[in-house]
Amino acid sequence: MIHPSHEKTNGRTAQMTSADLIARDRAVVSPAIYRYTDIAFARGEGVFLYDFEGNRYYDMAAGIATMNVGHCHPRVVQAIADQAGRLIHAAAHVGYMAPYVEIVETLRSLMPPPLDVGKALLVNSGSEAVESALKLARAVTGRSMVLAFIDGFHGRPMGALAATGSSSGYRRHLGGLLAGVEHVPYPSCGRCAFGHGPRAPQDCCGQWKAFIQMTLDKLVHPDDLAAILVEPIAGEGGYIVPPDDFLPFLRQVCDRTGALLIVDEVQTGLGRTGRWFAFEHSGIAPDIVALGKAIGGGLPLGGIIARADLMDRWWPAAHGSTFGGNPIACRAGLETIAIMREEGLLENAVRVGARLRQGFEEARPYAPAIGEVRGRGLMVAVDLVDRQGQPLSTDLLKQVIKSLGKHGVVMTKCGPSALRFAPALILTERQADEVVTRVIEVVQGLAA
Ligand SMILES: Cc1ncc(COP(=O)(O)O)c(C=O)c1O
Repeated sequence: MIHPSHEKTNGRTAQMTSADLIARDRAVVSPAIYRYTDIAFARGEGVFLYDFEGNRYYDMAAGIATMNVGHCHPRVVQAIADQAGRLIHAAAHVGYMAPYVEIVETLRSLMPPPLDVGKALLVNSGSEAVESALKLARAVTGRSMVLAFIDGFHGRPMGALAATGSSSGYRRHLGGLLAGVEHVPYPSCGRCAFGHGPRAPQDCCGQWKAFIQMTLDKLVHPDDLAAILVEPIAGEGGYIVPPDDFLPFLRQVCDRTGALLIVDEVQTGLGRTGRWFAFEHSGIAPDIVALGKAIGGGLPLGGIIARADLMDRWWPAAHGSTFGGNPIACRAGLETIAIMREEGLLENAVRVGARLRQGFEEARPYAPAIGEVRGRGLMVAVDLVDRQGQPLSTDLLKQVIKSLGKHGVVMTKCGPSALRFAPALILTERQADEVVTRVIEVVQGLAA
C-alpha cells in the first residue's frame, strides 16, 4: 500500500508536501471555500491532525463540530470497512437497509417523548436536514411562513440560506431566496439587539418576546405560521447560550398558533453540550429535530426526526434523496454513538468544557485580549478584544486563527469576534490545559 503522504505522478512515486498540495489546490479549487488555516492534513488520530511533514496539531475544529469520538477511531474505521465489504449503496427509494433502520431506532431512543416514538427520514447534510424540516412543516400544516432568527445559522443552499441570519456575507448578491421567512433577534445577552449592554442570560431583558409578538401582530398572521426554526444554542452566530425561558416560550407560541417547532441540532446534537440534544436542557420537546454533522461519524449524513403523526401525514415520494441514509454513513454513526455511550463522552464534554472555560476565565487578568467566555459542554467561545476592550475585528480574528495554526492549534471562529472550540468529545483535561496555554501565548504575543 502506498503511504498516504506519497502519491504516484507520471509513473513515479513522489513525496507529497503540504506546500505542493496547497499550490495544486489553489490552482483548481474555487476560492469560494474560505480556509481558516494554511495547513494540509495528511492524517488524523484522536484529537490530533498531522500535516505532510509530520507536524502535529490540536484539532479544536473536529471537522466543524463533527468528529465526536476523534479522528480515525479504530472501531469506526472497522465499522466502515465491514459495511463497505457488505453493501456500499443501494438507495432507500429502491428498498430497505438495516443500517438505516438501526440508526433511526437508535437516534429516536435518545430522545424524550413524543420523539422517542417519532419517525425519521435521512439525507446527506445539515442543510438538507433543515430544508427537509421546512418542507415537512409546510406540507403538513398547509401554511407557508417561517420565523427564524438573526444570529441563526442553518446552512448555505438557497432554502436553508433563507433561514440563515448570522452574516449578510452569506447572502451577498443572492436576492430571491426561499420566500416566507421572517427573522427576529436571537436573545444574545452579550450583545443585546435591544441595546441592553452585556448581561448574563439569567438577567436577560426579555424584549425578544415582545418582538416575536409584534412580528405575529404586524407581519406574519399566526394562521399562516408553519414553523419556528431555531438553534438551541446559536452556533455559527457565536455560541450564544440563550436564557432558560427561550425554548419554552417558543414552544408556547407554537402551541398557541398551531405552528411546528423545528429545533436545529445539527451542531449542538449528539452529546456536545452534555446532553444527547441541547433542547433537553430546556425541558421541552420540539415537533421536528434537524440532525447532521456528528451523526454520520465523519461521513455525510443528515436527517430529521419528527412526531410520528406529522410524518404519517407526509405522502409517499414527497421527499428523499439518492444517497440519504447511506449504509456506510449509518454504520459509522451507530458505532460513534456506541463508543460515546461506553466511554461516557457526554460527561466528559461537561467536565472538559468547564475546564476549558475556567482556563480562559482565569487567564483574563493577565491576558486582557480575552473577552467574554461562553458556551455549554464542549461548545466553547472565547471573544477576543482589542486594547480598548472593543471586539476584535473579524479580519484580525482570522489572522489570530492563522497564527494559532502555526503554533499547533487548528480552529475556526464563531460570531464576529470569537475563537470557536468544538473539539472531539474525548479531549482530556490535560489536553484542554495545554490548548489554553498555547492559545494564550499566541494571543498575548500578538497583543504585545
Ligand atoms: C446549526 C447548523 N445547521 C445547519 C448547518 C448546515 O450543515 P451542513 O454544512 O452539513 O449542510 C450547520 C453547519 O455548520 C449548522 O451549524
